[in-house]
Amino acid sequence: MDDKKLLFRIRNLKKYFPLKKRNPFQREVFNVRANENINLDIYEGETIGIVGESGCGKSTLGRTLLQLYKPTEGTVEYFGDPSTGGEPIQLQTLSVDEMRKYRRDMQLIFQDPYSSLNPRMTVGQIITEGLKAHKMLDTDPKKNQEYILSVMEQCGLAPYFVHRYPHQFSGGQRQRIGIARSVALNPKFIVADEPVSALDVSIQSQIINLLLDLKRDHGLTYMFISHDLSVIKYISDRVGVMYLGVIVELANTADLYASPIHPYTEALLSAIPTTDVDHKRELRILEGDIPSPINPPPGCKFHTRCKYATQICMEVEPEFIEHRPGHFAACHHPLKKREHALF
Ligand SMILES: Nc1ncnc2c1ncn2[C@@H]1O[C@H](COP(=O)(O)OP(=O)(O)OP(=O)(O)O)[C@@H](O)[C@H]1O
Ligand code: SF4
Ligand SMILES: [Mg+2]
Repeated sequence: MDDKKLLFRIRNLKKYFPLKKRNPFQREVFNVRANENINLDIYEGETIGIVGESGCGKSTLGRTLLQLYKPTEGTVEYFGDPSTGGEPIQLQTLSVDEMRKYRRDMQLIFQDPYSSLNPRMTVGQIITEGLKAHKMLDTDPKKNQEYILSVMEQCGLAPYFVHRYPHQFSGGQRQRIGIARSVALNPKFIVADEPVSALDVSIQSQIINLLLDLKRDHGLTYMFISHDLSVIKYISDRVGVMYLGVIVELANTADLYASPIHPYTEALLSAIPTTDVDHKRELRILEGDIPSPINPPPGCKFHTRCKYATQICMEVEPEFIEHRPGHFAACHHPLKKREHALF
């Protein structure tokens, strides 16, 4: 990664959601600790996959990184503004107005594009609206039309779709519209939050391949969020595994899948049926409930479910350190390198 250019540097990022007080006499404010001390570098041109069970804080990380949620603590430095001479922009310090300048650079693609597509607008209007909001429209309407049709073509949408409404499309095509709307803004970075989870398996690979083509053609960087380990393996250059608001392991994809260091990653990978291709690979695999993010366990947050846990795991939070080159994990008892691949 040495020759790669940093795009984001995330340090000690926290996002807590305060819970409403149950009664007016309640003194203590309880928080949902959705993200705890996230440290992550994102490099230009890579796809960083984020995987973990439901509720572990994946979407919160994507949204806090994009400043759609205000971080509770920590920093998100952005290195993608060429006008600063290499100095990072401290995104967490920007006002909503100041952030507007960078919104165009950083897009979010959702799981359910339908809810984010205005049902009363045609595809052409939907894409135009984004361009207008970012002052990207040309004074010549013909040029705008040509641009919109070229983006639609890149996203696999036929030109005659331009006058159609979202309800006239299938789920996969709607996702293409959502992607076209984002890509039209010529962003640098896209957070794709479960973009294929609601789609049939046959359509999933088409959308993933579209994202990969767009990444190649536009030099994009992705954060790809999914609970599906196969999808994450296919699309990601590096993978971060999250558990209860924390990134517990981070490595390049091949290393992580072949030889995980963290027991949670090992458990995720080993519980997956690799022979039954039709089996839905959901991440509901471990014994025991996930503890509450309102009152997470002390020490290592995974100790209540970990088969390797010892006394220190219950008392001391393990540091997130580099165990092998480029392979980070937070565990007191890191797993040894494997002879045979797990996944
Ligand atoms: N706006 C919010 N207000 C309060 N709590 C929230 C909010 N958004 C998320 N949470 C809580 O934060 C935790 C992390 O949620 P998040 O949506 O980031 O998880 P996730 O990994 O994306 O889950 P999923 O796989 O189900 O999408 C959960 O306990 C969730 O209930
Ligand atoms: S620190 Fe201990 S409890 Fe946590 S994952 Fe490692 S071995 Fe398991
Ligand atoms: Mg989510």
